[in-house]
Amino acid sequence: MKIKNICCIGAGYVGGPTMAVIAQKCPEINVTVVDINEKRIEAWNDEDVENIPIYEPGLSDVVSEARGRNLFFSTDVDAAIDQADMIFISVNTPTKTYGIGKGMAADLKYIELCARQIARVAKDDKIVVEKSTLPVRTAQALKNILDNTGNGVNYQILSNPEFLAEGTAVDDLMDPDRVLIGGDIDTEEGNEAVQALVDIYAHWIPEDKILTTNVWSSELSKLTANAFLAQRVSSINAMSELCEKTGADVSEVSKAVGMDSRIGSKFLKSSVGFGGSCFQKDILNLVYIAKSFGLNEVADYWHQVILMNDHQKKRFAANIVKTLFNTVSGKKIAFLGWAFKKDTNDTRESSAIYVADYLLNEQAEIVVYDPKVKKEQIYADLDYLNSRSEEENRQRVTVVNQPYEACQDAHAVAVLTEWDEFEGYDWQKIYDNMLKPAFLFDGRKLLDRKKKEEIGFEFYAIGS
Ligand SMILES: NC(=O)c1ccc[n+]([C@@H]2O[C@H](COP(=O)([O-])OP(=O)(O)OC[C@H]3O[C@@H](n4cnc5c(N)ncnc54)[C@H](O)[C@@H]3O)[C@@H](O)[C@H]2O)c1
Repeated sequence: MKIKNICCIGAGYVGGPTMAVIAQKCPEINVTVVDINEKRIEAWNDEDVENIPIYEPGLSDVVSEARGRNLFFSTDVDAAIDQADMIFISVNTPTKTYGIGKGMAADLKYIELCARQIARVAKDDKIVVEKSTLPVRTAQALKNILDNTGNGVNYQILSNPEFLAEGTAVDDLMDPDRVLIGGDIDTEEGNEAVQALVDIYAHWIPEDKILTTNVWSSELSKLTANAFLAQRVSSINAMSELCEKTGADVSEVSKAVGMDSRIGSKFLKSSVGFGGSCFQKDILNLVYIAKSFGLNEVADYWHQVILMNDHQKKRFAANIVKTLFNTVSGKKIAFLGWAFKKDTNDTRESSAIYVADYLLNEQAEIVVYDPKVKKEQIYADLDYLNSRSEEENRQRVTVVNQPYEACQDAHAVAVLTEWDEFEGYDWQKIYDNMLKPAFLFDGRKLLDRKKKEEIGFEFYAIGS
């Protein structure tokens, strides 16, 4: 089976970059990425490729090569479904905010809407690929909807979870550790569908890195991978608190531990807590699934990863209050960074949001500088928490375009994102323009302590 037309529903952080790379690597396949968000599609089609809605190093080059050739962005979802042989579903699957499973389960309403739309529109056989991260056994529900509401055409459902990390999405897509494809491998049709997707990735990925499994293993592997990654962060963060009490330094501990080849060095950097749209939601989803099978010990085990992460954010904020003589009321705190990590403009679940919220509850005034995050996004993130009125958020939080302006007359500076440029600033100038004592809180272990203390800063870094 040779795929000629691909449709991807969802032009977000996963759909956009993934499809751009598939289009670049497979020039003979037409790839159409569709979304109901008109503004997002407009931005993907912006003449100036630097204005595409997602910032990822290298992405604008890939888009500029393929866009208009065999990569298209559109709001005409029906037309793209109709023309496609293979449909990727790459829509958001946030944590439910209502009803059964509120605050834990994945909200699958967007997935279901896609399935119903595909069933309504499709007039010939389709391969439907789950690209979104989904609870194990979602493919069963998809198949049910497609088979029972469709036009009598045949569907094969594949699971092809995405392992890219924001900030390095293009590199991860070009050279992934593995590609995982789950399908109905017990049937001939299922195997054919799996092979069709393998053939696409084989354009640029060695076949020994393309792993095929049954659908359930594939769905569960993605949740497991995210749970393990987040667990490592929470594990080292738990140690960071102990380091602060004992005189150990978490960077030294993590280096010593990570050199053990059984453990490995990646994902052992202590910080003010993980953020991003995935780790928390996927672990909560895992906890919910375990609970729904009555596996309470399994659920509790993984839930602790989230509790530790919440604790880390809270104790970073609480330490700022304590260090500033137990009050930040009316004091100006400068935030360097708002994105959940460097090299992305994504702020979902960023620790900065929660640290800011905590400090605002303590009546601080906050000034934010982030190299890539827009002002409206920062206010939207704070408004979403519903902790105070939108007016108050705008009164108490200022967003500026210059780091030196952010730090001017501040009582304290807090580093919330590990943007490379922060260490390169003229810290003497920042110090000179701050109120004294000048406090500096490094939530990312990014800055050189010795140099900052020599300048005169009262310096605090996570885990030392
Ligand atoms: N962001 C990541 O780093 C990452 C990594 C791996 C997997 N994932 C998973 O991929 C999925 C998508 O994540 P994302 O970060 O790209 O989300 P996103 O919110 O950036 O994008 C999802 C897009 O889907 C669109 N959409 C929703 N319903 C639609 C519909 N019925 N028709 C057309 N468009 C619709 C939305 O408008 C939105 O633009 C999630 O399940 C997520 O868990 C994300």
